[in-house]
Parts: sequence; structure tokens; C-alpha cells
Amino acid sequence: MRKIHAVISGISGYVPSHVMTNEEISRMVDTSDEWIMTRIGIKERRILKKEEGSGVSYMAIKAIEDLIKKINFDPKEVEAVIFATSTPDYIMPNVAAMTAYKAGMTNAFCFDLSAACSGFIYALEVANAYIVSGKYKKVMVLAGDVLSVITNYTDRNTCPIFGDGCGAALLEATEEEIGIMDSIMRTDGNSLPHLHMIGGGSVNPASFETVEKNQHTIWQDGKVVFKHAVSSMSDTCMELMERNGLTREDVKWVAPHQANLRIIDAVANRMGVSPDKVMINIEKYGNTSAGTIPICLWDYESQLNKGDNIILTAFGAGFTWGATYLKWGYDPK
Ligand code: UT7
Repeated sequence: MRKIHAVISGISGYVPSHVMTNEEISRMVDTSDEWIMTRIGIKERRILKKEEGSGVSYMAIKAIEDLIKKINFDPKEVEAVIFATSTPDYIMPNVAAMTAYKAGMTNAFCFDLSAACSGFIYALEVANAYIVSGKYKKVMVLAGDVLSVITNYTDRNTCPIFGDGCGAALLEATEEEIGIMDSIMRTDGNSLPHLHMIGGGSVNPASFETVEKNQHTIWQDGKVVFKHAVSSMSDTCMELMERNGLTREDVKWVAPHQANLRIIDAVANRMGVSPDKVMINIEKYGNTSAGTIPICLWDYESQLNKGDNIILTAFGAGFTWGATYLKWGYDPK
């Protein structure tokens, strides 16, 4: 019997219509377009306004509807839905369940996965294991966030960075030599002081005090996170390349988490991969957490060919990080 692989058979995404420019951010905090462009590389980000829709499920459903149009699959055939997000619609029930119901994936079992910015690659890891086990043939991976609801718009260290967006990837079983080939996933659970949102959980349930102390928004020690992100992502990418015998020439694309253009450049530089092979769209969408990688794949889809070697890599709160090596599954349609 030939080996089963899990391949991305379709990718889509959604970003809200409201564009928040650096000028708008500069009216809220003491910053400038020049600082944000040179230190982070973001020109604008998308924000989900109540008038358009609410909840990460709104964006996920838009992305799934587009995916159904593009690759014409029957949502009833999807057997599992994994939603990687830090901003589910509600704490309970899980947002994967509600999204699946609204999108007609009514035969799937559904759950959320919490791995912050590494959510997409962690979810791919899980979906891949389900598929190669032989038990499941079609798994939907959704990944995205409405970071604007947990962003402190009085903190100039964080508010220019974040935006809203969501991706959708359908994974299917194949016996062809395409799809997910290998991966390395890592976690360091000793990082709470450096990157967190500590309000609203079981230690600090929502109260007047947690709201007053701004504990329902993201806080980070940017420099520490920056350093860990560069070394962790580049180390796992290089380890993955080495153990799969991939030279820098063999790598057709790198799809890195979009947190800071300087982080992306440093990772590509350490990997020795030329800048034209690196997917970058941080300038228009900022950091959408779990959404950045699928939104990149969606943006670059028309340039991807069947068999292209692609390395995905992410780093986020936890700390969580890792790298996934896949061979792209189809030519541009
Ligand atoms: O996706 C999950 C993980 N998150 C990340 O990967 C983010 C990692 N960290 C970063 O991207 C960067 O550390 C930041 C973008 C957050 C900050 O950039 P930085 O180059 O590390 O700046 P810094 O924190 O060292 O601050 C340098 C200076 C400071 O002023 P002083 O103390 O030198 O006078 C800051 O107060 O820049 C100041 N500063 C700003 N100035 C204008 C910080 N934020 C701003 C701002 N506008 N928005």
C-alpha cells in the first residue's frame, strides 16, 4: 500500500473591508507612519467593524463560501473542523462548531485549537495526523483572529502591529507525493511574562478590576519576543531543511508568520533563502495571528505550482513555534 499524505486541496481567506491606516493609528497614540514602516513594515491593517459583521466566525464563513465556489466541494463530506484562534466568538461553545453548522459542514466533529500565532501550523499538524492515520479523508482547517477586540489602542508598543483576518484550508488524503512531508513543532511554556493576555481566564475572570487594568488586551515585551521569534523560526526551518535534504535552491517558497518585516528578513537571511522566495503581505494586513500564513498562501496562490517545496513557519504566545514542509498540491486554476 502506498503512503497516504494530507494535501491542501484549496485555500481561501477573508479580510474585513475597513482599512485602518498608520495615520489613523497616529491619531490614537504617539507614533508615525515612518516609525511603523521602518520598525515593523506595516502600512495598513483590516479591522472588523460591527457594521460589517462580528466574531471570527463571520470571516471564516466568508472564506469557506469562497472556497466552496473555487473548488466546489460538498461541505457535508468534511469530517473534522479545526479552528485555530485566540479570539473565538464565545468562550463556549467552540467557534469551530458554530462555523461548521453555518457553513453546512454538519457531519464534522469540531473543536478550537489555541496556539496563538502558531495556530495554523499546529492545526495542520493535527489535521495531517488524522488524515495519515487513514481514519479521515477531509479536514477543514480554519485559522484567524479578530485581534482588534484584544488590542489596547492606547499602547503604542502593540496597537500598530495587529489586524483582523481569517484563512480556510481544506486538507484531503492523497497517495501522490504531494502535501505535508514533514514538520517540527515546539513549545516553551515558561514565557508567560513576555507575551500574554491575562484577563478573562480562570485565574482572572472578567471583573471591573480586570477591565480597569486593561487585562483583556495583549501585552508583550517586544524585544524578548523578537529575539525568540527569529532564532526559533530559523532554527526549526533549518533543521527541517537539513533532515529532508533540502538545499536553499530546493525551497521554492517560505511562508512565514507576518509579525514584523525585520523578523521575516532575519529568518530568510539565516535560512539563506533569497527574498523573492519569501511570501510577504504584512504591509497590507499587519499581524492577524493565526491568520497570517493561510492568508499569505491565499494571496500567493496564483504563483504556486504543483510540487513546489514550501516551508511554513510561525512563532507566537506560549511560546509556540515550528515549521512545516509541504509540497504544494495543484497548479494555478
Ligand atoms: O506575533 C506574535 C509575536 N509578536 C512579535 O513577534 C513582535 C515582536 N516584536 C517586535 O516586532 C518589536 O519588538 C516591536 C515592533 C514591538 C517594537 O520594535 P523595537 O524596534 O523592538 O522597538 P523598542 O521596543 O526597542 O522601542 C524602541 C523605541 C522606544 O523608545 P526609546 O525608549 O528608545 O526612547 C520606544 O518607546 O521606540 C519607541 N516606540 C515607538 N515609537 C514610535 C515603541 N513603539 C513605538 C511606536 N511609535 N509605535
